[in-house]
Amino acid sequence: MEVLRSLEAMHEWRASLSPDYRLGFAPTMGNLHAGHIALIHRARQRSDKVIASIFVNPMQFGADEDLDAYPRTLETDLEKLKAAGTTAVFVPTANDIYPDGLAQHTSVDVPGLTDVLCGASRPGHFRGVTTVVSKLLGVVRPHVTVFGAKDLQQVLVIKKMVRDLSINTEIDIVPTVREVDGLAMSSRNVYLSQKDRSLAPLFSETLERVREQVAESLSGIDGIIAEAKATLTNAGFVVDYLEVRHTHDLSEASSLSQETAIFGAASLGNTRLLDNRIV
Ligand code: PAF
Repeated sequence: MEVLRSLEAMHEWRASLSPDYRLGFAPTMGNLHAGHIALIHRARQRSDKVIASIFVNPMQFGADEDLDAYPRTLETDLEKLKAAGTTAVFVPTANDIYPDGLAQHTSVDVPGLTDVLCGASRPGHFRGVTTVVSKLLGVVRPHVTVFGAKDLQQVLVIKKMVRDLSINTEIDIVPTVREVDGLAMSSRNVYLSQKDRSLAPLFSETLERVREQVAESLSGIDGIIAEAKATLTNAGFVVDYLEVRHTHDLSEASSLSQETAIFGAASLGNTRLLDNRIV
């Protein structure tokens, strides 16, 4: 497995790749878990060579968020990627990605889809995600790019960006990988205290219960959501949002004739949990 530690090395590696190969790409921020490894496995199924990137992207963190605390575990990440059969890993420096600094950098904004859910509670977050992903896609030029379904809004935003900017890659969504008790795997789960870790599965259980109720009927949705929020709040969660929206445009769900999902975000202590369920 080649480790490409600069933009120059990345460009050279890409130029040396035979045009006969299909290239699969898994962008990550590191601290890899089984959810990331599932991305690599999917990329391997869909292509001849697989590249991952590891870059903790400062542009997608708010001023009061966990950029400094975000777990950085490069050596073990590289071991896991190698064991999973990754061909190469791009580990750019901040200077490679933002040569003139964050404030002076060109940014990419996707309107509409980023106004709601995490876009409403984390202003600027999706601008950071779409800016870095568009840059990574520009240098890696993959045939297929894989993202996890846990960050469903993120992948919907990226799909729109790729379409709007005519970026020639297919976006493939890989199902969420869960712990045995249902908690969606996330790099941030390491922040959970022992007590909060034992409470955390209630979040995915609650989303699943809402999904079952909504699948029967959308009528009474306000009561269903209020009850689910009360369950979480009484258990000690601070609920950011719990909403039922269509996946194609993230509008509030009015019927089940179009694909619909339950989207949730809630905090336990300092840990923000994110999850969703397709109805
Ligand atoms: O999902 C993530 O890990 C990040 O948002 C991504 C897509 C790698 C961009 O920094």
